[in-house]
Amino acid sequence: MRKNIVAGNWKMNNDLAQTQALISDLVEQTQTSNAEVMIAPTFTNLYSACEALREANIEVISQNMHFAKNGAYTGEISACMLKSIGVETVILGHSERRAQFGETDALLAEKVNAALENNMRIIFCFGEELNDRKTDNHFNVVKGQIKNALFHLPESAWKNIILAYEPVWAIGTGETASPEQAQEMHKFIRETLDNKYGVDTANSVSILYGGSVKPNNAKEIFSKPDVDGGLIGGAALNAIDFYAIVNAF
Ligand code: PGA
Repeated sequence: MRKNIVAGNWKMNNDLAQTQALISDLVEQTQTSNAEVMIAPTFTNLYSACEALREANIEVISQNMHFAKNGAYTGEISACMLKSIGVETVILGHSERRAQFGETDALLAEKVNAALENNMRIIFCFGEELNDRKTDNHFNVVKGQIKNALFHLPESAWKNIILAYEPVWAIGTGETASPEQAQEMHKFIRETLDNKYGVDTANSVSILYGGSVKPNNAKEIFSKPDVDGGLIGGAALNAIDFYAIVNAF
């Protein structure tokens, strides 16, 4: 059955000393929880985070990667480089990558393939912009993003895919989708998966919600039947807030 997951996306925050300090704070907060816990520090801090958390129940994951194995791609990092330091999961398709770095569905499909070829798990992000919702186009947009980047995959690949619905208008804005809006979209996503891959796959994929999840709203959002956890930005930069969210399960 699907798992509950809470993943912290640190984005471009925290230098080495700050990363180490936040990790010690997180370790202090750790207790047995009903959710898998992950954090995504910046590339330069992944190795030290992996070393520091080797014995802890916190998985260190990457915020991005390139699709190629190696070569003339200045400034990029490959799946095998991540694997070589112990990173087994990568976030792909975050709206900031799409909007600020021009990542398209086609490029994301290549990254998805590369991650899977390297036996990595993927947290695949997608979500509509405010205007899509205002024009009642949000279901179409979300379906298109999933279809274009993931529907070429065989059913067997889905055991390594985690989905993260992140409405762009709710990211970093303090405005959250209501628990009902999240549930409605997550249910739609599961139906979309069911139509393509069947009910077993649809029911086994974890679908996270992301966009201004905070300690005061996590419980209500996570209580919805098709919401299996969260991808947390701002609140993941504080250990007490982050574990308040983890413990919302
Ligand atoms: P936020 O970010 O929690 O700060 O809204 C979520 C995300 O970007 O994944």
